[in-house]
Amino acid sequence: MCGIIGILGKHEVAPQLVEALKRLEYRGYDSAGVATIDASGQLDRRRAVGKLVNLSDRLVHEPLSGHSGIGHTRWATHGAPTEVNAHPHRHGPVAVVHNGIIENFRDLRQELIAAGLTPESDTDTETVALLTAHHMAQGMAPIEAARATLARLHGAFALAFLFDGEDDLMIAARKGSPLAIGHGDDEMFVGSDAVALSPFTDRITYLEEGDHAVLTREGAKIFDAQGQQTNRDITRIDVGATAIDKGGYRHFMAKEIAEQPSVLGDVLNHYIKDGRIVLPDGLDFAGVDRLTLAACGTAYLAGYVAKYWFERLAGLPCDLDVASEFRYREPPLSGKSWGIFISQSGETADTLAALHYAQDRVAKTIGVVNVGTSAIARDTDIALPTMAGIEVCVASSKAFTCQLAVLAVLAIKAAQDRGRLTDEEAARHIDDLRSIPALLNQALTVSDECRALADWLAEAQDVLYLGRGALYPVALEGALKLKELSYIHAEGYASGELKHGPIALIDRNVPVVVVAPRDALFEKTVSNMQEVMARHGQVLLVSDAQGIAEAGDGIRAGLTMPTGGGLFQPILYAVPMQYLAYHTAVAKGTDVDQPRNLAKSVTVE
Ligand code: F6R
Repeated sequence: MCGIIGILGKHEVAPQLVEALKRLEYRGYDSAGVATIDASGQLDRRRAVGKLVNLSDRLVHEPLSGHSGIGHTRWATHGAPTEVNAHPHRHGPVAVVHNGIIENFRDLRQELIAAGLTPESDTDTETVALLTAHHMAQGMAPIEAARATLARLHGAFALAFLFDGEDDLMIAARKGSPLAIGHGDDEMFVGSDAVALSPFTDRITYLEEGDHAVLTREGAKIFDAQGQQTNRDITRIDVGATAIDKGGYRHFMAKEIAEQPSVLGDVLNHYIKDGRIVLPDGLDFAGVDRLTLAACGTAYLAGYVAKYWFERLAGLPCDLDVASEFRYREPPLSGKSWGIFISQSGETADTLAALHYAQDRVAKTIGVVNVGTSAIARDTDIALPTMAGIEVCVASSKAFTCQLAVLAVLAIKAAQDRGRLTDEEAARHIDDLRSIPALLNQALTVSDECRALADWLAEAQDVLYLGRGALYPVALEGALKLKELSYIHAEGYASGELKHGPIALIDRNVPVVVVAPRDALFEKTVSNMQEVMARHGQVLLVSDAQGIAEAGDGIRAGLTMPTGGGLFQPILYAVPMQYLAYHTAVAKGTDVDQPRNLAKSVTVE
């Protein structure tokens, strides 16, 4: 959360900073700001509350010139989203942009106030500018002052510093939050991710934990956590793969939902070749006694579906935790167990912390990640890419189904390694999984039916989602998607749990979405649906044509899904959950791609 960019360039930098910030806006959109150094060496800044467009508008009326600059898009942590709290923060000759949290900022702030400095914002970041300026006032040169400041900071940060009068100097530092350096021709760049830098360069260096870099247009000198100058590799990124456009769709979410047949096809082609599962060495589940899965939000729900698969197919006990609870619960972990950490961004602070907790306690850690260069990808023993491509919409869609695909592959492999499947059974499951991309193509046609239902859902105050077995987490995902996109209160329940309390909520104003493919649990879910209808609940049944024909009497509406996919049907049933939320949000006029208060990459606890 929070995106940062820095450029020592050859052209007017303000438009470039804004262009890069567009690519980082997914990390937060409470406010945005830029600072530049003009031809006379003068540092100046512009900031604006709300979306980046407000900053762009401001720059039209109050332009900033200069070839060096830093920029920021904010997800507020300390201090309300006001202009005074917006980055870049400046004190005297120092301007700073920051992603992360400076944990000891209160102590530092008190110390600086006692020394006669006056903070103007409520943020932790301003302390960094104040402290550095204070060091400079005591006679330190900019690099020395920034280093002295970095040595005092506790917490997680990615920082970029710019100094008044120094048109060819920028300092970048990383501890706990990702930071990439871009190498141009007589230009240098810093950014929260390579995607932000891709319009400028394809040559990227990822800073390691504790590194700081001194940048001039000539290049970057990188220093490790001990202050020793060090070399870090320059990697070439595939700039094509970082293209961010809506491809003719009204929203990124619509595009990303529609991409699912193709990206699922890619990920399954990667892990299944000639009907056999192909995984990196070291993934033999034979001696594993237990799995521990930890993740957040939608990624957690992917883990929840996978728990059903691992336990049912492979007979492998599987603990699942919301990552933010995991390490504080201090769970005892078996040395013969494996930990699986699921994350689209690979930077989610809680999931990363859960991984670090598990690291020395389990036999192996596995990452199921979409961003291959992320911290979770780097820190797990084996990182399995989910290959969904860039997901721009803050609410996850294709990353979720690709996570499910990778976890399904792992579950079949676990079942094979543990001797739980005959060759024929394994082949049948693999065929079922391989059938998913084509079935997803058919499932996409529910979009029109979901659109037709959107006005009804958009009127609701509350919506309930019910599911059983591996479809229960899909119901939870449906409720999560609706909440975050349309701001309608929604809850998912295990169908059988309804009568233990939530049924009290049912009346004719509460839409109840029942997710019930015709599997072994269908009849039981239908009974729970009848209980809802007997209390005038308005049911939307999501099932296949036969399911709707058999059980559809009295329902308000049905969404017809394709049949097939075997145990992996939850992947298919994610699609109507996504479209219901999407079309309801469109009907309500909320901001689909950037829902209020959210950020795509949650790098704070
Ligand atoms: C919901 C959503 C979030 C993320 C969660 C974890 O649509 O996208 O719930 O799933 O913040 O993020 P990652 O997967 O990046 O760890």
